[in-house]
Amino acid sequence: MTAPATSDTLMEDIVGLCKRRGFIFQSSEIYGGYNGFYDYGPLGVELRNNIKQAWWRDFVQCRDDIEGLDSTIIMHPKIWKASGHVDGFSDPMVDCKESKLRYRADQLFFAPVTVDGETIGYVSVVECIDQQEVAEKAAAEMKRKMAKQGVLDTIKLKEYTEAKPEQYELIPSPATGKPGSLTEPREFKLMFETKVGPLADDAATAYLRPETAQGIFANYKNIVDTGRVKIPFGIAQIGKAFRNEITPRNFIFRSREFEQMEIEYFISPSADWKTLHREWIDTCTDWLVSIGLPREGISEDIHPEDKLAFYSQATTDLMFQFPHGEQELWGIACRSDYDLKQHQEHSGKSMTIFDETAKEKYVPHVIEPSLGVDRTLLAVLSAAYTEDEVPNDKGKVEKRVLLKFSPKIAPVKAAIFPLLKNKPELVESAKKLYKKLQRRWNVFYDASGAIGRRYRRQDEIGTPFGITIDFDTIEKDGTVTLRDRDTCEQRRVTEDELIKFLEEQIGG
Ligand code: GAP
Repeated sequence: MTAPATSDTLMEDIVGLCKRRGFIFQSSEIYGGYNGFYDYGPLGVELRNNIKQAWWRDFVQCRDDIEGLDSTIIMHPKIWKASGHVDGFSDPMVDCKESKLRYRADQLFFAPVTVDGETIGYVSVVECIDQQEVAEKAAAEMKRKMAKQGVLDTIKLKEYTEAKPEQYELIPSPATGKPGSLTEPREFKLMFETKVGPLADDAATAYLRPETAQGIFANYKNIVDTGRVKIPFGIAQIGKAFRNEITPRNFIFRSREFEQMEIEYFISPSADWKTLHREWIDTCTDWLVSIGLPREGISEDIHPEDKLAFYSQATTDLMFQFPHGEQELWGIACRSDYDLKQHQEHSGKSMTIFDETAKEKYVPHVIEPSLGVDRTLLAVLSAAYTEDEVPNDKGKVEKRVLLKFSPKIAPVKAAIFPLLKNKPELVESAKKLYKKLQRRWNVFYDASGAIGRRYRRQDEIGTPFGITIDFDTIEKDGTVTLRDRDTCEQRRVTEDELIKFLEEQIGG
């Protein structure tokens, strides 16, 4: 009976649930919201922290070859000059002069509409899951309105970045549907600028970091000099990043303030980087599965050589089937020695390391797995969102919404219920167990309403286990009822069995 929501409505359903149950809110909502910024409510912050803690534990604490770091958001502006961001970190944008709307030129698609080879106009569409269908409908409509006889040729969509100058005037704006108002594509700088210090002149210009990676490169020397590391080794960091995205979209998928979990893994220039890259891709895929993403929802996008960033030897993105389509979740790049060499040149400080095993000195190369916290959270929510039908207290089958989070990252691990709230002995026993479990895990106590409704409220926020204290608990053997969120199956367990079970399921 379980049916995941269709992708048409899944995003809406997730956004609605996130607001209703306190996971995620639009930032500054009381002032009408602020596009590209999101706040995390009580359950969202728990889920977010659990994802970050799982990543930190698995990639930093459980590995002997990776060290942690927490660098500042605002760093010396020379860092961004050296890294190439000041000059090159931009996206192509296009403006609609009439509607004043702005599009990313690589997310705006156009095609000539041709009937038996004759061009009768152009269609345009903003990137979406069914863009081909939308464009074909618009083309058929154009043909109908112009009363053209003949066969409509296949619509071949191209990025607006590929449009020829003479086509700019002919392509309709997606906002108005009319041609003539779109500008040519221009580069739009993505870094947020600020001023540091009391003087607001050009010399005071600084940037909010657009990636955490450069904080790692800037501290690489400090970490090498503290003498704890030997090649190969990694430095990991979790932290905020900021990008003035032209078109923040799809809820928290692309926002202007987000968080990254990044590793720079330093290797010898003569290491077999292709094999190490492959190992990282597999390790990252396994980790996503370990936090509850379905393996079949994850795929690999290998960047073609002619599309690689100038510093990259190879990049593979782990893609996930998000509600709005298959999109990048985790970028795993081989960045060569580009960044360290740039910083060596711009700072005048040596970035070499002495390799004890090979007995040689060199600037290491780097493999960079870079993952967004918010994107991971959206992937986890999309994979977990489920609708099914289960019987209520009276045996009548009802629709149920549940989040099938892995117990490892679920915001609330278990809910404790006294069967009846007006029986002090049940309440006392339930509260005692609640206080005991609360010392180890984020658990919830709920005494109000029929037991079925209480289960439903927890199912909707993804609490994996329900624990009910009833008369058998206090009058007979001290056992409690343990209910499984996904199957709704119930069994009686002793307190010791309960704690052992929770330890196994949740970990920590
Ligand atoms: N240091 C490399 C780097 O930053 P990236 O592909 O630009 O590479 C890495 O970003 C990851 O950060 C992406 O795979 C994505 O998960 C996340 N990310 C990037 N831009 C984002 C945005 N605007 N909103 C949310 N997450 C974003």
